[in-house]
Amino acid sequence: MQLPQKHSATGTTIFTVMSALAQKHNAINLSQGFPDFHIDERLSKALGDAAASGFNQYAPMAGLPVLKQEIANSFRRRYGVQVDADSEITVTPGATYAIYTAFTAILSPGDEVIVLEPAYDSYIPNIEMNGAHAVIVPLSAPTFSVDWQRVQDAITPRTRSIIINTPHNPTGAIWTLDDWDQLAAIVRNTDIIILADEVYEQLVYDGARHHSVLEHEELRQRSFALYSFGKVYNNTGWKMGFCIAPQELTQAFRRIHQFLCFTVNTPAQYALAQHLAHDTRPIHEVMQRKRDYFLELMKDTPFTIHAPARGSYFQVAGYERISDLPDREFAEWLTREYGVATIPVSAFYSNGKDDKLIRFCFAKKEETLADAVARLVKLPAL
Ligand SMILES: Cc1ncc(COP(=O)(O)O)c(C=O)c1O
Repeated sequence: MQLPQKHSATGTTIFTVMSALAQKHNAINLSQGFPDFHIDERLSKALGDAAASGFNQYAPMAGLPVLKQEIANSFRRRYGVQVDADSEITVTPGATYAIYTAFTAILSPGDEVIVLEPAYDSYIPNIEMNGAHAVIVPLSAPTFSVDWQRVQDAITPRTRSIIINTPHNPTGAIWTLDDWDQLAAIVRNTDIIILADEVYEQLVYDGARHHSVLEHEELRQRSFALYSFGKVYNNTGWKMGFCIAPQELTQAFRRIHQFLCFTVNTPAQYALAQHLAHDTRPIHEVMQRKRDYFLELMKDTPFTIHAPARGSYFQVAGYERISDLPDREFAEWLTREYGVATIPVSAFYSNGKDDKLIRFCFAKKEETLADAVARLVKLPAL
């Protein structure tokens, strides 16, 4: 059968490959980005209560008003920004869906989208599924900061959008206010639309704070900001998220959304609305403790930590003192021989660029992290 090839990514994603390999070798899985601990009991109870109370039919297309209002309250409380619940927020089945929907709302065949690599793996296929092209600008290792001259040089008359991600997966880098200003200067006097993937917005460490595109008055007018409840409440399997954008962009987003999935899981929306209203504690502290614990343990291994993660729940590490294998082979070898699964960072580059780095996910129970590192300390250094 002849079927169209909608994007250039071929084969199974590395996340599926590494998780399958982890299972096969009974390895500790620090590869895929999801927590291995329980969610807040009040949240799971709220989900059960919502279903038992009969909230089981279609919610309004853009999301339950009560949830959208709680999201707006949360952004006002935490960032001091006013977001209009009705005209600017759309509840989605996760951030990946929201990214695809935003691209579909704005892209035409032949358009170009600038992608900073390493990058989350859905961006480029989503761009290509819309007949557009990704224009790659590499981030500068080892800090993975943005080289703004290279972004400027990548702009052409066909550039329709730039997708950015802070805090960053896989590197844990975060954007400064200056980064946002640099971006604003580049897109000023163009009609380029920004997609700001801020799914790890609440996971920023060492007293730093996340700067949201919503705080940047100029950029906000031309941006979709994309969020995931999964990364905030440790319930990635619920696949719940939302998009915040100015009215005109939100209307374009909803024109696609209403014919893609129309509406999102009703009991989960009720549960999240209730949780958002009552649980206003900062959540980065728990994850920072895990990061610090993991980094402390890693000092006894031959891995090199070039820069501690400043955000997200990932830590990148170099293995130059252990092996000179390409990163994918090294990650497979580590899973097979030492029983710890990770992700090779080359998987986040469309050209497979290999900086000999692997990514650990530290959003795990302390005992999981301790068991994993107990295996890694046995690694002989070259
Ligand atoms: C940068 C980034 N964006 C988006 C997502 C996806 O979020 P969701 O599970 O809500 O689709 C992830 C998940 O790993 C991510 O790391």
